Amino acid sequence: MKRLVFLTGAGMSAESGISTFRDSGGLWEQYPVQQVASIEGYMADPELVINFYNERRRQLLEVKPCEGHRLVASMEKDYDVTVITQNVDNLHEKAGSTKVIHLHGELMKATSTNNPNDPRCIITLPEDNLDIKMGQKAADGSQLRPFIVWFGESVPMIEPAIAEIMKADIVVVIGTSLNVYPAAGLLGYVSSGCKIYLIDPADVRYDHSLGITHIKKGASEGMRELIAEHIPVAHE
Ligand code: APR
Repeated sequence: MKRLVFLTGAGMSAESGISTFRDSGGLWEQYPVQQVASIEGYMADPELVINFYNERRRQLLEVKPCEGHRLVASMEKDYDVTVITQNVDNLHEKAGSTKVIHLHGELMKATSTNNPNDPRCIITLPEDNLDIKMGQKAADGSQLRPFIVWFGESVPMIEPAIAEIMKADIVVVIGTSLNVYPAAGLLGYVSSGCKIYLIDPADVRYDHSLGITHIKKGASEGMRELIAEHIPVAHE
């Protein structure tokens, strides 16, 4: 089977009702990113940051995958698919994708403040008790915190993501402004024969030497066009 790698961002979940970060009205217009999404912000005011993510986690229960997520998942019938996502929602998994690499963490998970990447401290929060509380401890006794990669923190999943991108026959980028590294740098690792598609309604800035085919549509409509006109699928 050919290897198909998706690289998705907030625009992938826009049609599910989750706001993006840098579009007008995006999350970073409503909240100071340094205060709610950086390690310095967390150390300065852990309660504010924990509550910011409690709010976003509660919203996750209200939303469901869009057709774009479902079409991405359906490609597993014809391709060896890996989804590399910058999103912390679980909508790719809910749509049926079975191999998802989360570069920036997962909203439904929590971890240790002292050792955020210690697997013994990473837990999945139960749907009937989603809020992290001040004083709640991780397995190592430190404050439980969101399992999110904040600005200023390392991105441990970038290595497995690079390994997947290097092997890809086809890469499809959906709904990311390609503003944030190292995620945005992944396109620099594609092999010479790899075909790249970009699905985004906006004029995203990208390296034009990569021969990218830009489908200037939203995630769902763009995935329908990609399947109909660009990458063959046996099943209908
Ligand atoms: N379908 C597809 N793409 C869309 C849609 C849609 N319906 N609506 C908006 N977009 C596109 C926008 O044009 C933009 O290019 O989605 C992209 C969203 O860009 P950002 O808001 O910058 O989100 P993202 O690229 O995922 O941000 C990367 O920044 O703040 C950090 O950790 C956060 O993971 C996030 C990272």
